[in-house]
Amino acid sequence: MNHQNQQASSGPNMTFVLLIAAVAALGGFLAGFDTSAMSGANGFLKERFALGNSLLGWTVSCLIVGCTVGAAFAGSLGDRFGRKKVLIGAGLLFALGIGLSALAPTLSFLIPFRMVEGLGLGLMSALCPLYNAEISPAQYRGRLVAMHQLAVVTGIFLGSLLAFSITGWGDDLWNQTTGWRILLGCGIVPGVLFLGLLFIVPESPRWLIKHGKPEKALPILVKINGEELARQEVLDIKASFKEEEGLGHATFKELFASKHRFILLIGVMMAVLQQVTGINAIMYYAPEIFRQTGAGTSGSLTQTIFVGLTNLVFTVLSLWLVDKAGRKRLILFGSAFMTLSLSVIGYAFHTGQTAGPLVLIAILVYVAAFAISLGAVVWVILSEIFPSRIRGLATAVCTMALWAANFVVSQSFPSLLASVGPATTFWLFAGASLFTLLFTAGVVPETKGKSLDEIEAMWHEQRERKEALEPSITRP
Ligand code: BGC
Repeated sequence: MNHQNQQASSGPNMTFVLLIAAVAALGGFLAGFDTSAMSGANGFLKERFALGNSLLGWTVSCLIVGCTVGAAFAGSLGDRFGRKKVLIGAGLLFALGIGLSALAPTLSFLIPFRMVEGLGLGLMSALCPLYNAEISPAQYRGRLVAMHQLAVVTGIFLGSLLAFSITGWGDDLWNQTTGWRILLGCGIVPGVLFLGLLFIVPESPRWLIKHGKPEKALPILVKINGEELARQEVLDIKASFKEEEGLGHATFKELFASKHRFILLIGVMMAVLQQVTGINAIMYYAPEIFRQTGAGTSGSLTQTIFVGLTNLVFTVLSLWLVDKAGRKRLILFGSAFMTLSLSVIGYAFHTGQTAGPLVLIAILVYVAAFAISLGAVVWVILSEIFPSRIRGLATAVCTMALWAANFVVSQSFPSLLASVGPATTFWLFAGASLFTLLFTAGVVPETKGKSLDEIEAMWHEQRERKEALEPSITRP
């Protein structure tokens, strides 16, 4: 048996697939890294540039404006120039943005470069998973979606370790002038690694075939799946494009058609609920929250490391559980504990019992409950609930809704703390978590163990049942 036949019968070339997965993983890692670097830096930025609450919110969340724009253009740019070229551009934008942010002499210099960085991150957030899905063998696609989330939380955790170590090199004054710059500037290292890796991975074979270059796609597919399967795959991909051409592109009108409205509502709601339950208030502002409980710089950053570690450990647990316990059960369980822990945090601030470990423990329970449920599971749900014909467009709409909700929370959190106070703010997040529990219990179907085709058939059956019932309900 020659080498290629061996490969065809013994499954895909895992070394090659993992190398490719590492690229998407690094894209997620960069987003996670920025989250915790900014979380470690924003207290010092506040002092350095004398920021009020809404300017502090804007300094953190202006990046998300860039992300939203980047995500919006990712599809068309990626189709036109190829995934790899646009990702290289995104890596450059990220490195340039974070590098120059670190050097910013004034706030009006910092903000536009954070937006440039955000553009890069937004392009990556849409194209990295797409590139992965297009290049990976079908049986690994689901796991790669979840791997992206694992990379995000790894970035958050390592970023918080780095924040702790760098800010320990000097006192608060040193951190206000120099520490935060080194912290942000460190982002260039994984950024350059990402760029370097991109030069050695191939272009997406689907994109190459779509652009009339099957002869370039074939050797890549051979490397992934072996010669026999690769030739068949080229034919299948060509056939799928013919089918798509016959049907034309999915349009917004089709997306919002009554038969898709319910599924789209579930997708958008889950994306928004993942954010309005407050996770990024904790991710971006944990050190600030811990400072409000009386912890000093080092104490608040140590506590933030516990937050990052808890997030990482429970995300791994979630990846292990998502196909065993099921999506719905994890979200029900997680949102119940989120409601409880957020209520306790609100109670601690309300009664002034913030000096002991209560707030830290409740925040750790909240982060664990989020990580095991909404953190990874929402991304899995978004990648699988939509019928294939509208999947690309629907996922893009939900991702943008998620970024927009993230923007609202991260922009308004400092002002909310100052106006209505921490107790009411956390009770608002608790209310949103309770709503998530009820919404999931009442509306979200379980998709565990179902193939994408079976999920599509499930919606179809549900619609038929509803249509059959409707006339009898309206009959007098
Ligand atoms: C969310 C991010 C969040 C991260 C925290 C992700 O699922 O989409 O907004 O920062 O989880 O772990």
